[in-house]
Amino acid sequence: MRSVVAFNESWTFHDGFSSENAGRLREGQPVTLPHTAVELPFNYFDEKSYQRAFTYQKVLNWDETFAGREVSLVFDAAMADAVVYLNGEQIVAHKDGYTPFEARLTGRLRHGENLITVKIDGSENPEIPPFGGRIDYLTYAGIYRDVWLKLAAPVSVANIKVETDNVLADRKSATVRCDFANPQNLDFKGKVTVTLRDAAGTALASRQVETRGETVTLAFSDLSGISLWDIDNPVLYSAEVDLATDHGTDRHVASFGFRTASFTAEGFLLNGRKLKLRGLNRHQAFPYVGYAMGRSAQERDAEIMKRTLKCNIVRTSHYPQSKWFLDHCDRIGLLVFEEIPGWQHIGDEEWQQESIRNVRRMIERDWNHPSIVIWGVRINESQDSHDFYAETNRLARELDPTRQTGGVRYITESEMLEDVYTMNDFILGNEELPGVNRPRTPLRPQQENTGLSRDVPYLITEFGGHMYPTKIYDQEQRQDEHVRRHLDVLNAAYGDPSISGAIGWCMFDYNTHSDFGSGDRICYHGVMDMFREPKFAAYVYASQCEPSEEIVMKPVTIWARGERNIGGALPLLVLTNCDEVELRYGSLTKRLGPDRETFPHLPHAPVVFDHRSFTQDELGVWGMEWEDVHFTGYIGGKVVAEQRMVANPLPTTLQVEADADTLRAGERDTVRVIVRALDQAGSRLPFLNEAITIKVDGPAKLVGPETVAFQGGTAGFWLQATGEAGVVELGVSSPRFAKQGLRLTAK
Ligand code: GAL
Repeated sequence: MRSVVAFNESWTFHDGFSSENAGRLREGQPVTLPHTAVELPFNYFDEKSYQRAFTYQKVLNWDETFAGREVSLVFDAAMADAVVYLNGEQIVAHKDGYTPFEARLTGRLRHGENLITVKIDGSENPEIPPFGGRIDYLTYAGIYRDVWLKLAAPVSVANIKVETDNVLADRKSATVRCDFANPQNLDFKGKVTVTLRDAAGTALASRQVETRGETVTLAFSDLSGISLWDIDNPVLYSAEVDLATDHGTDRHVASFGFRTASFTAEGFLLNGRKLKLRGLNRHQAFPYVGYAMGRSAQERDAEIMKRTLKCNIVRTSHYPQSKWFLDHCDRIGLLVFEEIPGWQHIGDEEWQQESIRNVRRMIERDWNHPSIVIWGVRINESQDSHDFYAETNRLARELDPTRQTGGVRYITESEMLEDVYTMNDFILGNEELPGVNRPRTPLRPQQENTGLSRDVPYLITEFGGHMYPTKIYDQEQRQDEHVRRHLDVLNAAYGDPSISGAIGWCMFDYNTHSDFGSGDRICYHGVMDMFREPKFAAYVYASQCEPSEEIVMKPVTIWARGERNIGGALPLLVLTNCDEVELRYGSLTKRLGPDRETFPHLPHAPVVFDHRSFTQDELGVWGMEWEDVHFTGYIGGKVVAEQRMVANPLPTTLQVEADADTLRAGERDTVRVIVRALDQAGSRLPFLNEAITIKVDGPAKLVGPETVAFQGGTAGFWLQATGEAGVVELGVSSPRFAKQGLRLTAK
């Protein structure tokens, strides 16, 4: 049987690389993986600092269990241009920074100590995607995902591909294709047993077949009692493949689901039912450590998308993301648009060949994920390139005929070689440009974008973003407009049945090059900040869920007399899924339903208090006494939500919240902690820009600096387990508050 164990501990790391020294253990800094080569400040840094070569080394001691088996290291990803050496001899090179690769050590291992040396290079190598032009994000450097030591029989299962059929019928079918790894080219005869199991492990069906090395495909039909994988009930099954040959045995398991997904000219269908896609783009980046965050942080992002933002789809802009993220999307029912690495620039022939290889690597890695509903096979926002994209599409369809392709573009009338026209539509806001003679337009009509005379399967893959950068501490009026832009586009997408859905730019702010963003190396394009703390616009998405899932009522205001230009709080949007919201202010009371006039198509239009309900005098001129406000949300006439906002906010509570109270010590797990400066009524104090000091005792360390400033009344950080079990005491202090603590357990 194979064994796959984490190989993340006890590496050393140093700057630079020389191939002559690849066989010699150099002194270096002890590190564990995932690891970022250069920790960056939050903003204002030189992104060149990590664009160079680095060396990772680790000693692997010979173990008797290696004898007679295939021994390899599996790198989940390294950025970039990785070269792996064993005892000074080059074993494998893998340029792409986003996909896994294996270093086969079999036959080269010595009894005793073996030195593994890995060179990585964070330079933006113009020979491979996404590099060669300028890109609006950072790629960082390091072995930023996990590494495993894999032992397997000389003949083993290389990959499994499950395809389902008759999914919407009572009796469903599936085929399971098994590819074998036989690096020693041994003659063999073997028996393959495939067992389909439900989530509880109960076998549903099992079949056997003989193989002499060739790929085998086993078909299962008449499968009954099967549940569909759906966003609300993401039921997973597994295909367990047992291989028994004269050279040993192997078992490999793939998880999959029964579902259909299709983009049509009339919208998107999941399991034959219409579903309007509502989502956000996600970069795999985190403050300070860039890409180097492990399993729980990846899973948490999927949770935030699904449970906080109530999205049903995420786009992995602009590359294949962590398996931990995708596995979790499968488990929680979050749809995924996955795409190959790249951004606007197309390189030469060899660059394009590498991109075509990326299509293969992405699809062969991820074809069993039920959450993935479309492959992005065009370099994001690139110009047309007929032969290149004809080939990426051909290959994607050959590898996986069950999914449609998309190719994300922003150039109108670009060639449609894909199955779905996937468009970044940034028209909203263009009316502000000189010479643009067009009223405020949330989305262009489909045929204006495609240049085609008929409707085709069509998805909006980006909007917003650079058209209206907004910080968590920006003036309320700007945040209000940020909210309205997200509302307007979602409303337009909901209103047009030919649009499968809309995926906004983007989930959270991210670090970028100096050519982009706000000059401080951040694009403030998120509906959340870099710590995943929501801005008002986050509630545009959250409020679209059904109240049975969660009741949302978020007034888009900090409730201050003079924060907006001229003063007052009108027009006041309340992002909500309530039937009615009542506002009480002094002697004024007003109860209103959703503004269906402005937002006729949204599942849950916001309630808008404006001059139709109050005069500017009533809610907000200068010089009158400013009073507290009360909001009450009603559903079916019953009170379901209440919120008070105070007229005289004062620092009252330092709130410290962790995403979990335990850390998996052995995995060097991380947990996110958010600290908020709150007033008497529990609202964030958006302009309390004071410092907080973080102290950690016990088996965990802080990721990032010990002293940070609130931004928008909130600050975030991650704690990482240092390996031992025990109690972690976290203390947070800030001059205006009593010190707060949290106790976590590493186990
Ligand atoms: C798009 C691009 C994204 C991001 C966004 C900012 O053009 O695809 O990566 O740069 O603009 O709004």
